[in-house]
Parts: sequence; C-alpha cells; structure tokens
Amino acid sequence: DHESRIKELLGRMTIDEKLGQLQQLAWAWDTGPGGADTEAAEAAARKGLLGSVLNVVGAEAGNALQRIAVEESRLGIPLVFGLDVIHGYHTTFPIPLAQAAAFDPAVTETDGEVSAREARSNGIHWTFSPMMDVTHEPRWGRIAESIGEDPYLTTCYAVAKVRGYQGADLTAPDRIAACAKHFVAYGGAEGGRDYNTVDVSEQRLRNLYLPPFRAAVDAGAATVMAAFNTINGVPAHANPHTLTGILKEAWGFDGVVVSDWTGVQELIAHGNAAGEAEAARRALTAGVDMEMVSTTFVDHGRALLASEALSAERLDDAVARVLRLKLRLGLFERPYVEESAALTVPTAEARAAAREVAGRCMVLLKNDDGVLPLDAPTLRSLAVVGPFADSGDLLGTWALPGACEAVPVLRSLREALPDTDITHALGVSPEVSGAFGVPEAVAAAEAADAVVVVVGEPPAISGEAAVRSELGLPGAQEQLIGAVAATGKPCVVVLVGGRPLTIGGWANQVSAILMAWHPGIEAGPAIADVLTGAVVPGGKLPVTFPRAVGQVPLYYNHERTGRPYNPATPDVKYVSKYLDLDHGPEFAFGHGLSYTTFTLGDPLLSRERIGARELRAGATVEVTVLVRNTGDREGDEVVQLYIQDPAASITQPVRRLRGFRRIRLAAEEEREVRFTLGADDIGYWTNDPAGVFTVEPGEIHVHTGNSSQTQARRTLLIT
Ligand code: IFM
Repeated sequence: DHESRIKELLGRMTIDEKLGQLQQLAWAWDTGPGGADTEAAEAAARKGLLGSVLNVVGAEAGNALQRIAVEESRLGIPLVFGLDVIHGYHTTFPIPLAQAAAFDPAVTETDGEVSAREARSNGIHWTFSPMMDVTHEPRWGRIAESIGEDPYLTTCYAVAKVRGYQGADLTAPDRIAACAKHFVAYGGAEGGRDYNTVDVSEQRLRNLYLPPFRAAVDAGAATVMAAFNTINGVPAHANPHTLTGILKEAWGFDGVVVSDWTGVQELIAHGNAAGEAEAARRALTAGVDMEMVSTTFVDHGRALLASEALSAERLDDAVARVLRLKLRLGLFERPYVEESAALTVPTAEARAAAREVAGRCMVLLKNDDGVLPLDAPTLRSLAVVGPFADSGDLLGTWALPGACEAVPVLRSLREALPDTDITHALGVSPEVSGAFGVPEAVAAAEAADAVVVVVGEPPAISGEAAVRSELGLPGAQEQLIGAVAATGKPCVVVLVGGRPLTIGGWANQVSAILMAWHPGIEAGPAIADVLTGAVVPGGKLPVTFPRAVGQVPLYYNHERTGRPYNPATPDVKYVSKYLDLDHGPEFAFGHGLSYTTFTLGDPLLSRERIGARELRAGATVEVTVLVRNTGDREGDEVVQLYIQDPAASITQPVRRLRGFRRIRLAAEEEREVRFTLGADDIGYWTNDPAGVFTVEPGEIHVHTGNSSQTQARRTLLIT
C-alpha cells in the first residue's frame, strides 16, 4: 500500500533527495516574476533533486523530462507536472466567475472533466485550481477566477470542480489532481490590491473564507496552495494556525501544501524573515510542503536540520505528502503518457459542452419592452458594433498558451441570422481614449433596425496582478454606447469582462444589457444563442454590481449596522449611507432576468420551531416554495434560499445564501422546490481560535425568492 511504499522510499533517500522532492521549478514560461529555466529543471531532475515542474507544454516535452527523472536519477522517482488549468486546457470554458453565474455547479464539473481529459492526455497531472477565494473586491483582478462574494455558492462550486478534475480515481488517464487555493483569505486583500494585507477576525475567517476549503478537503482535493497575503500580520505561507492547526490537524488533510510562486522567498519582502534560511524555516515549520520556483528549502534545509531548527519528522512528513500525491496519481506505474493519444485540439463534444455552459452563464440584467430575443423574422438589418463584436479575445484570464481563440460574436450572429443584413463597425478601442470610430458606428446603427453593442474589458485587465481603481468601461466605450443609443434604435449591450462593472452612467439609455463575462472559446455561438432566443438566459449575478467604485466593498451578505438605511425614510441623516448616491447596488447578488416570467410563493416550513440540540444531533427543517412559469415560453429560474439571524452573540449578515436550485419550467408549468436546513446552515463559527461552531436559540428568518433582495419570509424559532 501507499504508506508502506512511502516508508520504504524515505528509508532509501538522502537528505538532499528528500529536500529535492520538495522543490518545484518552472519549465517553459513564467506565471510570476522571472523563473522558467528548462536547463536548471533538467539538471535537478537528473540528480534526483527535483519533485515537480510547472508549465510544461505538450506530451512530448513532458515525457522527455520525465525520462530524465525516471531513467537517469538514482531513485527514479517520477516528477509531478503542474499547470494552471483554470477553465480549460485546449477547450477554454467561461471564466470561473461566469460559471458561478450559472448557479449550477454541474457546469464547473463539466469544465473540470473536459479540462482533466485534455490536460492528462498531454502529460499534466496536477492543476492549480479550483480557486475558492471569496471576495468583496471587484477591483481585484482575481475576482474573475473566483466564484464571487458568497461562501455557500463558492463551497458548492469548489466541491463540484474537485470532483470534475479528480473523479474517483486519480490514476485514470483522464483525471488530474486538484489544488484548493489560495489558503487563505486572499480575497480579502485591502483595497483589492493584489498580494496585499488581510486583517480578518477569526469568525470572519471561519464563516467567510474557510468553508469552501473545508468542503474541498472533505471532497478529497489532493493539494492546497498557500496564499500570497498576510493573515493578521502572519503571512499565509508562514502561518501555523491556518496551515497546520486548521488544515492539517483539525481537518486531517494528508495531501501536499504547495507554496505559491516564490511565496516562500517573499517572506523576506513581507518583513517576516531576515533571510532565505529563516523564510524556509518559517514556511516548512508552518506547514508548506513544496516550494514553487524559489529554492530556499533545497538551499537551506540541510543547515536547518543540522541546527535542529527543522525536525527530521517534519521533513519526512513533507516528503511523504509529495510521494503520496505521486502514488495517488499512479506515476510510479505510469510515469509517461501515450504521445499519439494526446488531445491536441478541442473535440466537437468539448466545444459543444463549452457552448452550452457559456449560454448558462449569461445574465440578462435588463430587457425593456422585451427587445430581446431579437425577432429574426422581422429583423431585416442589424448593426453589430463595438470593440469586442469581431474579436477572438474573449477567452478570459488564464487562457493557456496555444489555446484556440474564441469564435467572434459577429461571425456567429451572421450564421444565426442568415436572412438579416448585418453590418459591423468597430467604434472604439478599449485601449485608446479617442472616440475615433464613433461616427461610423452611429451610421451603421442609423441604417439598421436594431443595434448590438459588444463592449467591456479585455482579458488582459482581469486576473492576477490586474487590479483596477475604476470599474467603468475602459477607453471611450461609454461614449460609443451613448452615441449609438441616441439614434433611438433598439439598443442591446452585450457586456464582456471579468468583474462587476459600473454601468449606471449609460444603463438607462439602452434597451437591454446582457452580461456575457469572458465566455471562452465558444463566445460567439453562445452569445448568438442567447440574443436570438435559441437559449433563454437564466444566469444570476454571483457578485454585487455597485453603482460607483466609491461604494466598494459592497456585498449582499454584509453585517448589520446600528443605524441602517431605511428606504422608506431616505432623508434621515444619521444612517449608514452615501450622500451623493442612491442607496444600494446597481444590480444585486442573485439578480438575473429571463425571456419568460416566474412567480414564487412564500416559503413553507415543515416545522416552525426546533431545538438547537436537536439540530446539532442531525434534525433538519424542510423549506418548500412553489414556483410557476407565468410566461409563454420555457425558461430557467434560480430559486434561492437565504437566512438571517436577527439577534446573535456575533452580529450576523443581513442575508446568507443557504440553498439554490436552477430549474427549467415549461410555459405555465408549476413546481415545488424543496430545501433542507440543518445545524450547519443555521449556526455559525465564533471568534474562538480553537474553532467553535454554535447554534443559538432565537428566531431565524427564512427568505426565498429569485434574488438576494427578496422579501418573502417565514420565521423559524430555535429553542
Ligand atoms: O497557480 C498560480 C497562482 O494562482 C498565482 N501565482 C502563480 C501560480 C502558478 O502559476
């Protein structure tokens, strides 16, 4: 079995070979400050002083490097190859934030499965995904990789993605190891500035940031990556409380904790270590097992052992975790991949899956007078304008080098509407401030029955180290929308991007707004599907869209205040509000329209009171809600369940999502949707660093509806 094999190997390894297993080097390209060095990686592999490589491209290169480790090193321990397969390998799915908008974890499981098949066939064993950093910061570029602002939604997606990548058997030729990242609270970076400070209470750490990680570990995530931020003054890479106390001891995680890119060496810049030896000691003793790119473990591990600053047990534990990962992946038995079987382009099935998922991710923010779907039989001409109308740059952040470009919207609309005369004008560029092409776009709009404006953010300004201080459309795109809308033609805006954008300046001027995010390889077909009504939009916002950047952080699950704003008395002075803005978001968490309409009944509870003890012993309360499609076409609704605890020892969020279900109803169809509430849903973690979860007596308000602003409610009494 694995454990005796590990013991036997440890018995044969020198200290240097052990330290070597803890080293990961970059191969073909950098995903951090300069580090890729093919020759250094080969030399280390040959000497048996390397455990892993990241950013290897292609089955052939991977096999060649693996051959060096297996055939030329003393012990022949195979390397494990890691890569950021975040939302696709060849077949790029929508960005994770878009997938969150589907409110359907099955979409992310599909992405995980397709990605795993393509990646493993090309020799990749391990992805640095899923990212599960809950965040309240739209300025932070990495929100694009996240599931948004809600810990429950993030938890459901984290579990589904781990399942999609890993399946039941990591030795399978179509599965890869997952990495729950970034541990932990990276989404709380102050000001949204990447890599920045996080000061977080224990209760917020446990209620907001930790739940997805706990669920991912329980779901079998093979690895975890440490985060770049500090947590209450202690860098996450050197944090024994989170890495060892919580992750390894309380949760029993027996997989690998990998550092982020040069994250160990950065303890020096953090001001937490005087030099590399101290950085290595702090990270290793806190619980980091493998070092990515920087080399402090291999450079200083031997001296640390000699001075007893590092124990032999801890070193062996770290090595055992790396070997366990390799054994779980079956690398000792099958270190190579069949080069002739490598998937080198997206298959038709993979493309079809990406198209369907992208359609499910789109959120219809606004649709005045039912301008969408476009009415193909009466639409003689259509102007399709804007910088992203004829663009293949819609894959989003972390598209892998060599990934196929996205299909442009213009091409797909021409295919979907063969009898409509479609004209195109670029209008403006997001990179340039001038409104050079606006007159041409206006002329196109004037000559057409309707206009579709495709605008937004290029992928280059979302993702890692892509932080913005403004959330409007870059360049002169807002000018373009204003000018085109002023023609009076029905104007549909398709928004692309990797974060919530402020759209208050122009939202009222246009008839419809479709949030398409960065939809991936099948961007064009998926957008055309929704615009023409072949697919009825049913996505919901997994993040709040603020009215202005000055409101940030603005999130639906905020805590209560002693002087809340009351919409019935907007002029009262001494309340928590902005003087110069209407209160609340532009679009709330959970908001999204359809081409049909739904009514949702009030929630019904299977019982109106229940004991806290009973709950803790496993009793549950059922919540049912009746949903009816009142329109004249089939469509999807996302039924959402929120709770609020109005009087608790620790002030609770005004709403907490505790259930959601995306259902498809035919016209006039009615269905009862059922949720279950248990102790885990109703209770919360206290500020006790030892980890105390409590269920307190008192009222719990149970809300159901189709956005976080729903008013429908029943009260459950906890006795
Ligand atoms: O996996 C990533 C991480 O999320 C950010 N820094 C670089 C790593 C490897 O590419």
